[in-house]
Amino acid sequence: MKNFVSVHDVNNIDALVQRALAHKASPLANKTLGANKRIGCLFLNPSMRTRLSTQIAAQNLGMEAIVFNVGSEGWALEFEEEAIMSGTSVEHVKDAAPVFGKYFDILAIRTFPSLKNREDDYSELYIKQFIKYAGIPVLSLESATLHPLQSLTDIITITESMQEQALNRKPKIVLSWAPHVKPLPQCVANSFSQWVNAWGQADFVITHPEDYELSEEFNQGASITHNQEEALKDADFVYVKNWSTYTDYGKIYESDPKWMLTNKKLEATNNAKVMHCLPVRRNVELSDEILDGPNSIVTREAGNRVWAAQAVLEQLLTTNG
Ligand code: CP
Repeated sequence: MKNFVSVHDVNNIDALVQRALAHKASPLANKTLGANKRIGCLFLNPSMRTRLSTQIAAQNLGMEAIVFNVGSEGWALEFEEEAIMSGTSVEHVKDAAPVFGKYFDILAIRTFPSLKNREDDYSELYIKQFIKYAGIPVLSLESATLHPLQSLTDIITITESMQEQALNRKPKIVLSWAPHVKPLPQCVANSFSQWVNAWGQADFVITHPEDYELSEEFNQGASITHNQEEALKDADFVYVKNWSTYTDYGKIYESDPKWMLTNKKLEATNNAKVMHCLPVRRNVELSDEILDGPNSIVTREAGNRVWAAQAVLEQLLTTNG
C-alpha cells in the first residue's frame, strides 16, 4: 500500500479487516513497528474522531504523531498550478508539501469540499497535490469526495457485528439518507458505497429522496429507491447519513422529517443495527430513541476508528519501510 486515499489502495479488504480486529484484540502487539517514525496529521477542517483515533493508532504502533491544524494555525495554502499568488494564500503546496516530507514518514490530511464547484471538488486537487509533492505516503483523513478510514471502520463494524450475531449469510445493508439543517458533503455516502460494493458481500440498497442521486462512480452496484419503507424491509444494517445534492451541486432540496429513522420504521427490518459516522444532529438526522436504543452501534463504530487506522498505518509502514 503506497498511499491510502480510497478503496482502490487496498488489495484485500477482508485481510485488512482481520488485521484491524487483531489490533482490537491486542492493541500493543506490534508496538515497535513504528519506532523512530513520525506521522504528521494535517487538518484543514475540524475533527474529533479522526484526529484522536489516528493519534492513538500511531502511538499503539510506536509512532510519534504530530497534529497541525493547517486550516486555523498554518499559512493559507495555494493548490492551483501556476497560480499568481496575489490573493489570500501565502504558501504553495509545491513548497509546503516537500517540507512535510522532510519532517514526517507518513502524511495524513483532512480536507473538505467547497460544495460550490463540483468539478473542482471531484478533481480531488488537494489530496493529489500532497501526493505529488510530499514524496512520502499520504493517508486520507477525509478528502473532498471520500472518507476511506470511516468506510473501512464501517466494514469492520459490520463484520464484527455479523460474527456476534452468527449471521452466516449475505447481510442486507441499507444506506438511508436523513435530513440535515445545512448542506453536507457526499464523502461518507460515496465512500461507504464504494467500499460496500468493492467488498461484494452484501445486498446493498441506497434510499434517498428524488434528486439526491450520488455520483454513478460510487452508487453502481447498489439498488436505488426513493421508497425508504420498501428499502428498510428485512435490512440487517441501516447506515444513516445526510448528504447534499450531487447533480445541482451542494444544495438542500429536501428537509422533510419523515426521512428520519424511528423505532416504528425499524420494525420492518431484521432487527437492524443502526450506524452513523458521527457527529450526528439528534432528532434531525437520527431520533433519540434510536441513538439511545439497543439497535444503535454508533459508539462501537466510532471506537473501531482506532483499529481501522492502526491496520492502515501498519500496512503503510510495512510496505514503505
Ligand atoms: N466520523 C468522523 O470523521 O468524525 P470526525 O469528523 O469527528 O473526525
